[in-house]
Amino acid sequence: MSAIAAPLWRRAVRPAWQGFARLVERAQAARSNHAYAPMIRLAAEFIHTNRIAGDYLEFGCCRARSFAAAWKVARRFALPWHLYVFDSFAGLPDPRGPDAGSTFARGQFAMDLPTFEQAARALGVPRERYTAVPGFYRDSLTEGLRMRLSLRRAALVFIDCDLYESTRDALAWLVPYLQTGTVLCFDDYFCFAGDATRGEQRALAEFRAAHPGIALVDWHLFGWHGKSFIVNRRAPAPGGGA
Ligand SMILES: C[S@@+](CC[C@H](N)C(=O)[O-])C[C@H]1O[C@@H](n2cnc3c(N)ncnc32)[C@H](O)[C@@H]1O
Repeated sequence: MSAIAAPLWRRAVRPAWQGFARLVERAQAARSNHAYAPMIRLAAEFIHTNRIAGDYLEFGCCRARSFAAAWKVARRFALPWHLYVFDSFAGLPDPRGPDAGSTFARGQFAMDLPTFEQAARALGVPRERYTAVPGFYRDSLTEGLRMRLSLRRAALVFIDCDLYESTRDALAWLVPYLQTGTVLCFDDYFCFAGDATRGEQRALAEFRAAHPGIALVDWHLFGWHGKSFIVNRRAPAPGGGA
């Protein structure tokens, strides 16, 4: 290299090239870590175009990343969603039963409620636009809770609670809010190395068997881990269930 080209390479071209490569790397990492953002956007487009009434429900909200994506699309499509988030705010419960012996661990992903509220403030979500329901689902998802919430129908349900029992409890509680056109997203559908006898996949298989009146139409896959469905409610069940 010539006496002029060498310092130019060292001082200008190489650092600029390295900076660009870092930016590309970060953009790729952000895409792969946030595969649910495009999924939530697609769901919002579907809901907007098909005029699906109802609200946004999220099971497993800590770290607030999917919540941020939901708020962004609610604003973009002027969806009048109230955002309901359900979380222990103490991390995962014990992975038990079929999930025992996995890489998930009790307390993992813990974020307390004030920290979540701070994240929501930083995103600019008005306090009256969301409701946080703290507690482990086996205790929090009760009939009494239904009376306290003004929730009537679900437009988009984002299930990101990783484990079989958590997903089972969330799905059981959701039944009266599901309507034809509700989009159901499972962020961890292919966790546990895709083992259908564990995690969200098992919970959903059991739910389908127990509720033949609620058909789930396969919709999009997202990332390596997620799968979404569109609810078709075939018949209203006695007493409002399916
Ligand atoms: C992977 S994190 C959620 C990440 C979040 N959706 C995001 O995008 O940042 C999983 C969450 O599920 C919650 N969770 C799992 N099982 C639960 C249960 N049975 N009851 C309450 N919360 C639960 C955990 O507390 C944790 O916050």
